[in-house]
Amino acid sequence: MDNSKTEHYKTLLHQVKALIDPACGWVTNYANVSAAIQQTFQHWWCGFYFVNSKNQLELGPFQGPVACTLIDFGKGVCGKAWEAKQSIVVPDVHQFEGHIACSAESNSEIVVPIFSNGEVIGVLDIDSQEFDAFNETDRIYLEEMVELLANISVKI
Ligand code: SME
Repeated sequence: MDNSKTEHYKTLLHQVKALIDPACGWVTNYANVSAAIQQTFQHWWCGFYFVNSKNQLELGPFQGPVACTLIDFGKGVCGKAWEAKQSIVVPDVHQFEGHIACSAESNSEIVVPIFSNGEVIGVLDIDSQEFDAFNETDRIYLEEMVELLANISVKI
């Protein structure tokens, strides 16, 4: 399983490198990256939240069903990854204290912070209907992927 996951991520990273267009703004680039992840893995939900001027995470480009729009610092898996400044892999969201259920269909989740100049500017959030869908392979490759986006200045 992980061999094929690794191969998918390698292809996806090449695709994302080619997709990112410095001539375009952040919505264009982040929207295409969420679509590329979704086309590769068909997870339940995949998208971005960004730190807004009120110091909350605000919903950005995503693929999947409608989602929560604002998340406070330290709240939910997203807010906790922001606070901890590190990725969080959740094998079973029902066991994660404070998990924010945007959808009853989600059973596992990974959240990866996006950094610019050492500060968290947003997070990549991916949800799966399967339990235990994410592991170290996902964390490593998704962290590499968001680094490719870190230079795109987000205005939210
Ligand atoms: N489950 C997340 C909220 C965002 S949705 O999953 C899209 C959380 O606990 O932060």
